Amino acid sequence: MTRGRSGAGAWWRHRREDLLALARQEHPLYVYDAASLDAAAAAVRGLAAVDRSFYAVKANCHPGVLARFRQAGLGFECVSLPELEHLRAHFPDLPGERLLFTPNFAPREEYARAWEMGAWVTLDSLHPFRTWPDLCAGREVFLRLDPGIGRGHHPHVRTAGAQSKFGIAPDELDDAARLAAACGARVVGLHAHTGSGIRTSEAWAETAEFLSAAATRFPGVRILDLGGGLGVPERPSQSRLDLAAVDATLRHFKESHPGLELWLEPGRFLVAAAGVLLARVVQVKSKGDVIFVGLETGMNSLIRPALYGAYHPIVNLTRLDQPATLTAHVVGPICETGDILGRSRRLAPSEEGDVFLIANAGAYGRVMSSWYNLRPPAGERVLEAALSPPL
Ligand code: LLP
Repeated sequence: MTRGRSGAGAWWRHRREDLLALARQEHPLYVYDAASLDAAAAAVRGLAAVDRSFYAVKANCHPGVLARFRQAGLGFECVSLPELEHLRAHFPDLPGERLLFTPNFAPREEYARAWEMGAWVTLDSLHPFRTWPDLCAGREVFLRLDPGIGRGHHPHVRTAGAQSKFGIAPDELDDAARLAAACGARVVGLHAHTGSGIRTSEAWAETAEFLSAAATRFPGVRILDLGGGLGVPERPSQSRLDLAAVDATLRHFKESHPGLELWLEPGRFLVAAAGVLLARVVQVKSKGDVIFVGLETGMNSLIRPALYGAYHPIVNLTRLDQPATLTAHVVGPICETGDILGRSRRLAPSEEGDVFLIANAGAYGRVMSSWYNLRPPAGERVLEAALSPPL
């Protein structure tokens, strides 16, 4: 990959005309490239050491995206009853065992419904055993453990340690085993998710080691769910997660722990690069030396830059072939100073009506959008197989 050139080799360079045509029909608009979704799903399915993968629906719940992953044979990880119901509404015949429910501080009714649907259910506290023993009686459950050390691209997405609200603390494991037995629940799986946006390949094998050590207290455990978190590079200079190395470390783990199944719950990895946000320029202005290119949508469609300081490549798609001679902040129309999609970006000189493309926006984009300022967030489309051949 050429460094310093935004998204060199990215799918959207080959689909520029199709994207501009879509943006004429509807804007602002998220577009998801079907071929990229399929390729990412195939890469995850190709992990030989992983017995089952469940797509983390929270990253992108567009029905067209879900349909491709269903077709690819993935299960679905849901963190709320509305996510489970969304799956049920779109795929009424999906077997319950392809649904995994991994909520945090969910109300009792949501667990009850998830079990009725036949989903695998993960408890991330001992509250259900203590206060709803009748509901847990006779159930097969997963327990989400706090692995102690969190990972990921930002403190908001690191999910471990005493101050994190997720998981059962290691010193509660004896209580967990006792309470499960007391209410007649069978702990069949242990789960840990250390965080999101991880690009170091040994992370999941370390989680497996941690969980297998905890599993000695739960003789019925046959599955270790290593969570999600598989990262993608944000900037051209960042390295990719080495998926083959992830697989190799997990195969090594399995050799010494035969009889344990390994599950994964990737979200971002499957959808991030497949998605772009298209938005028109509405105004360009300068204040002193600072130039602002204002788009028709901002943090109401994509909050990641404002919330995490996340970097998303941005190009002027209308003028993709012109030299990037302008340095400008790319902002939205929302009444907050934080409504910046990209700071000090090198761009082709831009005018009202140009279509901008914000890349790597398929994960945690539209799902985290809002109607702030009563501005509707961008719509969504799946871009099917190429209409025009690659350049
Ligand atoms: N499993 C559990 C239990 C999770 O909490 C998450 C993400 C995943 C799987 C999927 O993680 P992934 O493979 O996508 O990294 N909004 C943030 C990311 C929050 C992730 C929340 N949990 C962002 O835009 O970066």
